[in-house]
Amino acid sequence: MPSERLDKITALNCSVSRRDARKLIKEGRVSVNGQTVLRAETEIDTATDEITVDGVSYAIKEHIYIMMNKPAGVISASEDIKKTTVVDLVPQRLRRRSLFPAGRLDRDTTGLIIITDDGAFTHRLLSPSHHVYKRYIAKLDAPLDAGSVKRLEEGILLEDGTHCLPARVKAYEKDGEPFAQIEIREGKYHQVKRMTAACGSHVTELQRVKIGALSLDEGLAPGECREMTPEELALVFENE
Ligand code: URA
Repeated sequence: MPSERLDKITALNCSVSRRDARKLIKEGRVSVNGQTVLRAETEIDTATDEITVDGVSYAIKEHIYIMMNKPAGVISASEDIKKTTVVDLVPQRLRRRSLFPAGRLDRDTTGLIIITDDGAFTHRLLSPSHHVYKRYIAKLDAPLDAGSVKRLEEGILLEDGTHCLPARVKAYEKDGEPFAQIEIREGKYHQVKRMTAACGSHVTELQRVKIGALSLDEGLAPGECREMTPEELALVFENE
């Protein structure tokens, strides 16, 4: 039985803090399967129990999934003593105690990042065996030629011996500048930057625009985020 504490579930579903959830419970405003429950630590079967708050029933959400348009200059971490993290940018109403970014983008990389409290989801997203491709748009200082594209598509061996899995690559020009669309299904340290550098093209700007079949919501300004819909969540594991 998938179980969670009542205060955690109440906080998650009513978008309130854990402390406010405990207050609601103490005030007798929360019922489980029609019975008022006053103990915050009561274990809830998230698959079958029905929770109501002030008589209104909630579909139980065990986890939260937030899409963010990461700006440059913030780090992909939960907390840091000195630097601003992506979790620092999450507004209070979406905050949970154990939020973390599902995967890392470099400090200067922008674009799509998912912030969640679901470890199993993150493991699935990051594991190369699950074939979730992440799409990056790289602005380059020199164009990738056909030979380089082929090397990247076949799986390039970096100078330090790191072997990259085959990538999907399209080189193109925009406003006279060289770009590449690169899709990889692993997340090695500085991977896209190192892959193109191995071909003699250095990344000058990098943006992630897609994870699986989920595209970055273009309505999100840099630094903005919103909760994902269940449909968007399913798109993450859909391959294109
Ligand atoms: N590859 C990189 O080089 N940097 C990122 O942030 C993501 C992928």
